[in-house]
Amino acid sequence: MTKASDRPRRSALYLPASNAKAIAKARTLPCDVVILDLEDAVAPEMKDEARAAAIAAVAEGGFGGREVAIRANGIDTPWGAEDLAAIAASGVDAVLVPKVNDAADIARYDAALASAHPGMQLWTMIETCASVANLPAIANCAAGGRLSLWIMGTNDLAKEMRAQLTPCRTPFLPFLTMAVAAARTGGIAILDGVCNEFRDIEAFSAEARQGLMFGFDGKSLIHPAQIEPCNAVFSPSQSDLAWAHSVIAAFALPENQGRGAIRVDGKMTELLHLEQAQRLVAVAGKIAGL
Ligand code: COA
Ligand code: MG
Repeated sequence: MTKASDRPRRSALYLPASNAKAIAKARTLPCDVVILDLEDAVAPEMKDEARAAAIAAVAEGGFGGREVAIRANGIDTPWGAEDLAAIAASGVDAVLVPKVNDAADIARYDAALASAHPGMQLWTMIETCASVANLPAIANCAAGGRLSLWIMGTNDLAKEMRAQLTPCRTPFLPFLTMAVAAARTGGIAILDGVCNEFRDIEAFSAEARQGLMFGFDGKSLIHPAQIEPCNAVFSPSQSDLAWAHSVIAAFALPENQGRGAIRVDGKMTELLHLEQAQRLVAVAGKIAGL
């Protein structure tokens, strides 16, 4: 199984699985993850058709090195059970499930996926008010289970909270922080929510940089135009890498052996910074290897 933390997920593009043209296009786009959606992006009368199209697209393949997920309808909706059964029997990399509230929900999804191939990951949306108090408990479900990644559902969260999804996202900032912290305790990868403004790339990039600042591994996307700017934001920059290499080189100097804190470029630099530097270099290496 490809563990969550082992691969870049800078950009995860949603598309309605009912849109054959979008599926064909996704096979050529530079996103790290493709999410074939059966849920919010698909109208009720198209659910069966979308499910069949998603399963057929996975069987057909052609997604190259991209990780592929199918987003199911919730287990308690009229389509959930059929979606989960079909996805479990497909060879898809991951199933993304919506509106998870607590650890009991994870157990129900795990049970519904019992027959799936052992490497199939369970990804969940984090998007309900009820989940706020349960983030650490949900994160604990990752130990020994399929759960490996969370995606923030900021549109649903705004709807439930009756909050406004403004460019600065002020109402959501505490929740984003708590979600990232909980994800890290469970070793879960975590992606930021979508930016609905797909014609305004400046606004998109600002929101992506905000997500990077909060510690997200990448961002979920709704339009091909968002992919390149998103990959740019979530790839270590030249200056990040220059810093990382100077920290690694400084700690390797004979005079710094056995020291926990040293000076690099005029700044206090500790062994924890060395670990951050090594991680940045490793991330850049994985991106280069895509
Ligand atoms: N994935 C793949 N291809 C996409 C795409 C996506 N998410 N969104 C648009 N495209 C394609 C279009 O098919 C079109 O292809 P073409 O040039 O070959 O005709 C091209 O990109 C340009 O599309 P554009 O005209 O700019 O967008 P639109 O007005 O047709 O569609 C949306 C806008 C928002 C409806 C569409 O981008 C979309 O469905 N996004 C995903 C929504 C989703 O999955 N939501 C659920 C999670 S929040
Ligand atoms: Mg939703």
